[in-house]
Amino acid sequence: MTTHNLLLLPGDGIGPEVLEETRRVLGWYSANRNLSFATQEELVGGVSYEKHGAPATDAMIRKAQNVDAVLFGAVGGPKWDKLPFQSKPEQGLLRLRKDLGLFANLRPALCFEALKDASSLKPEIVSGLDILIVRELTGGVYFGLPKETTVLPGGEKRAVDTQVYTTGEIERIARVAFELARLRSGRVASAEKSNVMVTGVLWREVVTRVHGAEFPDVQLSHILADNCAMQLVRNPKQFDVIVTDNLFGDVLSDEAAQLTGSIGMLPSASIGAKDANGRQRALYEPIHGSAPDIAGKGLANPIAAILSFAMCLRYSLGRGEDAALLDRAVERVLAEGYRTGDIMQPGMTKVGTAAMTDVILKVLDKLAS
Ligand code: IPM
Ligand code: MG
Repeated sequence: MTTHNLLLLPGDGIGPEVLEETRRVLGWYSANRNLSFATQEELVGGVSYEKHGAPATDAMIRKAQNVDAVLFGAVGGPKWDKLPFQSKPEQGLLRLRKDLGLFANLRPALCFEALKDASSLKPEIVSGLDILIVRELTGGVYFGLPKETTVLPGGEKRAVDTQVYTTGEIERIARVAFELARLRSGRVASAEKSNVMVTGVLWREVVTRVHGAEFPDVQLSHILADNCAMQLVRNPKQFDVIVTDNLFGDVLSDEAAQLTGSIGMLPSASIGAKDANGRQRALYEPIHGSAPDIAGKGLANPIAAILSFAMCLRYSLGRGEDAALLDRAVERVLAEGYRTGDIMQPGMTKVGTAAMTDVILKVLDKLAS
């Protein structure tokens, strides 16, 4: 049996609580599914700043570069809001993305049938929703240089962020989107602002070329990012895969998350290029963030973290069936009426963080027996 090396980065806020539940699910898989894990743990974000004076250390990054996958909790909190920009907890996550080359961020927005009434949109608009946002994650305005604030002669300040994309960066993210679309409904919508941005013009040009040359079987449409935001709340089911840049992807994926009823439910995967040995770096994280208001209270929804581990099984460990088993267990638990506070509905059974995992593990036992 191969042992899979995992690095756990719980981080801040509810990160440690939800990763603790992931750890229990890992335990179930090693006890029941012929899987073996070696786990290490490191600090990231605000807690890393407290101990080491930086949100990510070189030692942590080296470990992350040398494991099969990283399981990430969350970073940030009001305690660190006043830190200088480079020391902010979020920089720890950005450095991981950059130093591990995790250029492709997969953010599924799936509306569980049991939760269709939890969305702020009408149930018929979101019922059956299953879209995948493929966000470029190591380029664009997040990393473009110059990125600086200068003081003008009159004392006024001037701040600059730079949006940059190269042909190669667009090609590789387009390929990821087209390949994933082939495994789904075969449709890709590419979102940019080619009406006002030259990076958008290049984006559209390159996506069109990659499509024509390599993926003519996939249906491609182009959409301006602002219209995409509107269409997502008007008729989200028109979309299958949406491919977009780093900043638009950040915004559109939060919007898509809200369609599903709870951001506490959604996992994500950030994946790099295959190396010469076919090894691909990857980081899995719930998209909900650190939720400092409920941290440490046992109230957080562990499902996004648990489903992130399902994505790890699928994409990093080649265990599609085991991933599907976990997806099914979560679906079953929701259908049986178990709810954490964020997705609570009248008549359902309210549970805390650990109790939600308890029922998921019980259902896994049943499904596997
Ligand atoms: C996300 C988050 C991050 C981002 C923050 C925490 C840096 O919002 O993963 O969507 O902006 O990418
Ligand atoms: Mg975001």
